[in-house]
Amino acid sequence: MPEDVVFPANKVFFHGCWVYPFVSGGCEGVIFFGKNQRKSYLYAPFIKLYCMQDIIRSLIQEITQFEADSQSGLEAFRARFTNKKAVINELFEDFRNVPKEDKREVGQMLNELKTLAFEKLATLQELIESKKVTYTLPHDLSLPGDAFVQGARHPLATVMNRIIHIFEQIGFEVASGPEIEDDWHNFSALNFQDNHPARDMQDTFFVSVNPDFLLRTHTSSVQIRVMEKQKPPIRILAPGRVYRNEAVSARSHCFFHQVEGLYIDKDVSFADMQQTLLYFAKAMFGEDVKIRLRPSYFPFTEISAEMDVSCQICKGDGCNVCKYTGWLEIMGCGMVDPNVLENCGIDSSVYSGYAFGMGIDRLAMMTYKVPDLRMFSQNDIRFLKQFEKMEL
Ligand code: DAH
Repeated sequence: MPEDVVFPANKVFFHGCWVYPFVSGGCEGVIFFGKNQRKSYLYAPFIKLYCMQDIIRSLIQEITQFEADSQSGLEAFRARFTNKKAVINELFEDFRNVPKEDKREVGQMLNELKTLAFEKLATLQELIESKKVTYTLPHDLSLPGDAFVQGARHPLATVMNRIIHIFEQIGFEVASGPEIEDDWHNFSALNFQDNHPARDMQDTFFVSVNPDFLLRTHTSSVQIRVMEKQKPPIRILAPGRVYRNEAVSARSHCFFHQVEGLYIDKDVSFADMQQTLLYFAKAMFGEDVKIRLRPSYFPFTEISAEMDVSCQICKGDGCNVCKYTGWLEIMGCGMVDPNVLENCGIDSSVYSGYAFGMGIDRLAMMTYKVPDLRMFSQNDIRFLKQFEKMEL
C-alpha cells in the first residue's frame, strides 16, 4: 500500500468489496469494483472512491443532463440506466451490502433514482416520437415540390397514332385481333394454299401443331375476323404487333408492328384505293409527296401492288436512305381477292374492296432517324427520353 494514501475512518461495502474512500492526486472517477477486482483498487491510489450515496447523486445528475434526439441516443440511455444489466439494477443488487445504518437513506435514494430514470426514458421517447412525426410532415409548404416525372409516348406508338388519326378523318375505325392466331385466320382464309411457297415468306413461331396455333405474321388476320362478324360496308384499320421467324439485326426483328387497312363495299375500285393512299401519303409526309404503285403478289389480293413514296429526305434526288432510287417502299396493297370475301361469307359478286398493310418500325426509323430497329424494344431510358417532347 503506497504511503501517501490517507484513510478516512469509514469504509463502504460496495460491489462485494470494502472500499476505502481516499483522496489522492491524479484523476477522479467512479469505479465499480467487481469481486475479481477486489485487489486492484488497493494499488490504485490515484483514484478517488465514492460511497453508494455519492454514486447515486452523480447518476441523478447524469440522468438529468442526458440528451437524446435519436433512436440510437435512446438506446444508449436504456443501456446505461434502465436495462436489466444497467447501472441502476446493479446498485439494487449491491443494496444488500450497504451497512445497516445507511440502508434507509440509500434505499430511498435508489427508489428515487429508478423513478427518475424511467420518467426520463418516457420523456425522451415522447420527444423522439414527436420528431418523427414532424419529420414526415411538410414543414415549409412554400418549398418547391418534387417534380412529377411525366412519361413519354413510345415512338412506335406515336407513328401508329398518327396513321390512325389520318385514316379516322375519312371514316376508318380501329379493330383488333389476337396475337396468337389459328391457321385459318392467319393463312388459309387469306387464300394461302396449304404448302404454297407464300407461307415460307412468313415463317413464324408455332404455339401448337395440329390444330395449328401460331404467333400471327401480319395484321391481315384481323380482316378475316372482322369480315366474319360484320356485314359490309366495312372500313377498318388494324394496328398491332406481329411476329416472324427472322434473324435479328439492325433492320429486322422477330417481332415488329403493322397497320392494316380494309375497305369493303359495293363498287369499290382500284382508283378509290389509289386516291385514299395518296391522301394518306400527303397527310403523313407532306403535300409535295408523290406515290407510285408497282405490281406485286399477295395471296389475298388480286391485283396486288407495292406502294412507294418519293423520298422526303432527298426530295427524289437520291440519297443513302432511298438507296439512290428517290423512292421508299412503305406498304403492300391490292384489291381483296374474291376467294377471301367468299371465305368470310361475303358475296363477291356484290361486294369488292381494297386492303393495304404497312410496317410501322421502318417508318419510325425513317421519321426519327433511328439507326437500329432493336432500339425500339431495348427499353433504354436514354433512348426513350428523347421522345418526351413529341406531339400526338
Ligand atoms: N400482310 C402483308 C405482309 O405482312 C402486307 C399486306 C399486303 C397487307 C397487301 C395487305 C395487302 O392488306 O393488301 O406482308
